[in-house]
Amino acid sequence: MSRAPNARLREVAAAFVRHMHAFAREVKLTEEEFELGVDFLNRIGQSTHDAHNEGVLFSDAIGFSTLVCLLNNGQNGATETASALLGPFWRMHSPATENGGSIVRSETPGPALFANCRIADPDGNPLADVEVDIWQASPVGLYENQDPGQADMNLRGKFRTDAEGRIWFRSVKPAGYPVPTDGPVGDLLRAQLRHPYRPAHLHFLCYKPGYKTLITQVFVDDDQHLESDVVFGVTRHLIGDFQQGVGAAPAPGVDGPWFRLTYDFVMEAGEAKLPTPPIR
Ligand code: BEZ
Ligand code: FE
Repeated sequence: MSRAPNARLREVAAAFVRHMHAFAREVKLTEEEFELGVDFLNRIGQSTHDAHNEGVLFSDAIGFSTLVCLLNNGQNGATETASALLGPFWRMHSPATENGGSIVRSETPGPALFANCRIADPDGNPLADVEVDIWQASPVGLYENQDPGQADMNLRGKFRTDAEGRIWFRSVKPAGYPVPTDGPVGDLLRAQLRHPYRPAHLHFLCYKPGYKTLITQVFVDDDQHLESDVVFGVTRHLIGDFQQGVGAAPAPGVDGPWFRLTYDFVMEAGEAKLPTPPIR
């Protein structure tokens, strides 16, 4: 290890090996358990393909993705936790959509949602021209790439903040959903008697040169799984204010219940960079 020219690789790899050895000693790992662990890792790789990322899911399900997210955002814990894990379902190139537009791209039954968001810097100055990528599951709890009944890019869209830092759009109120449980992560959850549910949420990825890319989620405030998100993504700050609308909805053609979400984001100065998409 000491000959590796990359100092960060030396540090990370040495610590990794040290902790793996300490782990085996602590639990007195048996040979059968070692084989099971290697098989589990191999099955994570074998379950991963273009449209599914079991590696990200495993990291999410053991709270590791959220830990890395919290370590790297919110000015080392000095500010409220405004970031959340990316998850396995972000796709690049979601359709550019005008403010006021809808991200419902094929028939999607469920309560209408009208969202109004504002993005500011830590001093409260509005940030214009922020690209805001949004993705969410449908009211039956499936992302479009998991559901042949939804159009390509349904419930995904990319908006741009106006001079006052605002975006606004129409969607449907998301539902909570189980993470995929047909792979090794599902086996782990069952063995641990854990439920596989995420509370209902919308994902946001906010990008503007000169600012640290903000990746986060806003959760529906009455969801029964807010306290037990299978991937540990919920913080108090990320619970949205979803108000049920009274009277006529602010758009034609809405029969039945509708909701309004109002939510403000803060972006810190820093480096703007996009993550590698977990799926295509
Ligand atoms: C998601 O929110 O899209 C998600 C996050 C972690 C695991 C599965 C799904
Ligand atoms: Fe999600």
